[in-house]
Amino acid sequence: MSRQALESFPKVQLTFGPSPIHRLNRLTDYLGGKVEIWAKREDVNSGLAYGGNKTRKLEYLAADALAQGCDTLVSIGGVQSNHTRQVAAVAAKLGLKCVLVQEHWVDWDEVNYEKTGNILLSRIMGAEVRLDAAGFDIGFRKSWEEAISDVVARGGKPYPIPAGASDHPLGGHGFAGWAFEVEDQERELGFTFENVIVCSVTGSTQAGMIAGFAHSNRAASVLGIDGSATVEKTWEQIMRIASRTAAAIELGRELSDSEIVLLDRWNDGIYGVAGDHTIEGIELVARLDGMITDPVYEGKSITALIDLVKEGYFPEGSRILYAHLGGQPAINAYTTAF
Ligand SMILES: Cc1ncc(COP(=O)(O)O)c(C=O)c1O
Repeated sequence: MSRQALESFPKVQLTFGPSPIHRLNRLTDYLGGKVEIWAKREDVNSGLAYGGNKTRKLEYLAADALAQGCDTLVSIGGVQSNHTRQVAAVAAKLGLKCVLVQEHWVDWDEVNYEKTGNILLSRIMGAEVRLDAAGFDIGFRKSWEEAISDVVARGGKPYPIPAGASDHPLGGHGFAGWAFEVEDQERELGFTFENVIVCSVTGSTQAGMIAGFAHSNRAASVLGIDGSATVEKTWEQIMRIASRTAAAIELGRELSDSEIVLLDRWNDGIYGVAGDHTIEGIELVARLDGMITDPVYEGKSITALIDLVKEGYFPEGSRILYAHLGGQPAINAYTTAF
């Protein structure tokens, strides 16, 4: 029933359609060829300001905003948030206004950190960008509530979107759909992936995958790679959103703790900064397959995948699907890391 239940939720098409899956040939060979590495590319899923995982989630939230007659999308993230950049793009595309609270989530001392990359793109797209001194936290914030009430005070109708479009009734829907899309693509490919590797911070990407794959009892094959360094909080948020999404799409049973797998070895102990090992991982895939990953999210999850293959975690003959969630624009704010 899950797939039909999901289809009953209204959606605005913001992505091109199913995102491409392809084999990372040189990385596969480099790692010995016994485990095949494939990637599903959310980083090229849309023509809206470079796309990414949030664009897929926002297809459901945008439909809700329009149905409620809202005129302003209000959201929050770090200074180099990919999420807020995608909210700005969706607002532009739909002719809505956009207010973004950009917090000081990362202590990264680079001259143009607050001017280039994602925040530059949001400004170009006409969003009202509000810088705020608060540090990293995936929870609800006062600055965000103030931004919402300011829109009301001006006579507007805000549509609040929490950090990462995650802790929202529709936050998990986009990636529940991703799981069904993978199953369709597997039928075309003629095989099934043994594991999915995905970076998790605010949680609804992995949570949605879990809710979608749970209908065929594959949720535990989704290996979340923590990028938050607040692992317990992220695990709990994944469980909460996965359970909520599973109920919404009529899974018909509770999720168990063992279906939420979040590995904590690759977060470099801090959100938003990459250690030397992560930088090596980023350079390796860039030099082998021309695939670009960023120091905040995808660099950590691709490094985890490389290490797990090297450690023999996956049995010989496995095919592993790396979920590339986007995030490349932030690299422009991390020049000194390379
Ligand atoms: C590029 C990228 N990868 C991974 C994530 C993590 O996704 P989520 O916040 O849904 O856990 C994000 C956003 O936080 C992101 O922008």
